[in-house]
Parts: sequence; structure tokens; C-alpha cells
Amino acid sequence: LNKKEVEITFVKANGERIKAKGKIGDSLLDVVVNNNIDLDGFGACEGTLTCSTCHLILKPGDYESLPDKPTDEELDMLDLAYDLTDTSRLGCQIYLSEKLDGLEVKVPATINDARS
Ligand code: FES
Repeated sequence: LNKKEVEITFVKANGERIKAKGKIGDSLLDVVVNNNIDLDGFGACEGTLTCSTCHLILKPGDYESLPDKPTDEELDMLDLAYDLTDTSRLGCQIYLSEKLDGLEVKVPATINDARS
């Protein structure tokens, strides 16, 4: 059986909008990788919560309605990201569900690799 796909829109700092599809259970990092979305330096640690390059900014309503709240590990790593906002999350920690179809996330202008 085909797993249902949901559509996510990534909005780059320059205003460019990139629509991409992902499967239920994929992370937003998976969506970026599987669709070959060109975001410089994004996802450097491949989802192991050690880099903060997968920083994404959500709309407040979306942030509130996400089923998975950030863990302490995620919050620690977010502290190292540039342009941190109250609705920032790490893309490798957000997993797609049917509810997320049509989600729009902002990609911050600057990506910080916390490992360097
Ligand atoms: Fe490194 Fe998410 S990809 S923390």
C-alpha cells in the first residue's frame, strides 16, 4: 500500500517558495533530502541532533498544534541556531502526519553548524 503523502512548503529567506512532498512518518529533514531541495548546509548532522542546521521557523498556530513538543535536547541545540524565534524547531525532529498537509515553514537566512 502506498503511504499517504503530504505537501510541505519551504519558504527561503529571499522569498522563494519550494513545495515538496513527503510521506507520513518522514521528518522535515527527510523531505529536504528526498526532494533534493537546495538549502546550503541544511541537515549537516543527518538528524542526530548535533548541528542545528535544520532550524526551521513555523507559524505560531502550526507550532502550537504540532503533536511532538521539543525535547530538552532539541531546545539545547536550538539555542545554538542563528535567528532563533519562539516558534523555531529543528526539522529533523518534526515528523509528518496527515494533519501537517499544507504546512509552510520558513528557512532562516543563516544556518549555524553547532559542530564547528
Ligand atoms: Fe542536525 Fe537536525 S539535522 S540537528
